Amino acid sequence: MTEPDFLRATRTAYDSWAAPYAELFANGLEDFPLDRAMLAAFADFVRTDGGGPVADLGCGPGHVTSLLHSLGLDASGVDLSAEMIAIARTARPDLRFEVGSMTALDLADGGLGGVVARYSIIHTPPERLPGVCAEFHRVLAPGGHLLVAFQAHDDPSELAESFDHKVALAYRWSPDRVAGLLTEAGFTEKARLHRAPTESERAFPQCHLLLSKA
Ligand SMILES: C[S@@+](CC[C@H](N)C(=O)[O-])C[C@H]1O[C@@H](n2cnc3c(N)ncnc32)[C@H](O)[C@@H]1O
Repeated sequence: MTEPDFLRATRTAYDSWAAPYAELFANGLEDFPLDRAMLAAFADFVRTDGGGPVADLGCGPGHVTSLLHSLGLDASGVDLSAEMIAIARTARPDLRFEVGSMTALDLADGGLGGVVARYSIIHTPPERLPGVCAEFHRVLAPGGHLLVAFQAHDDPSELAESFDHKVALAYRWSPDRVAGLLTEAGFTEKARLHRAPTESERAFPQCHLLLSKA
């Protein structure tokens, strides 16, 4: 099957940015206490509901996968960029990392206890987002948990607004509209973090949505 242009462009861009990106997150999420709190809550829900494998989709250099592992989860990572995956494997040879796309995951139906997509849906063209939500739903077991993070915008009349991300074409999203698409895909929202940007995140508010599969 021919690969869509947006996947090829995103992969090529992150392949060349993989090393500097990994450097940016050399300290993990040390500067993001609220993000860590959401990941800790996510991990708590997954553990309480029986554990089960967790996929970090768009894992980049693997710092979040590593954090999920430290929270007691059976975490592995998937990323479009082979360079990112190579860095992740070198940093954490004990964890599983695979090249793949969240638009068509090489994962069985209902096999996961949790999915994290931290700042990785941002490169998905808006018309493709419902398909990605359906893919998250497909790979999760009933009762499984989903944590999605993205740059937000405040106009619910627009699903997405493109912005000049320094690596590849990216979109910031209306939290209400993304939550609506995930609800239509079969998720129930449990919590939402809408936080102010840090200095490195420019002026955009940041949103984390925590949901579970009904
Ligand atoms: C902004 S980085 C986020 C990395 C990491 N999740 C974090 O929180 O720092 C976006 C990552 O998502 C990956 N990505 C983008 N689109 C993807 C897709 N369709 N499937 C899998 N990975 C994707 C990129 O290659 C890149 O590594």
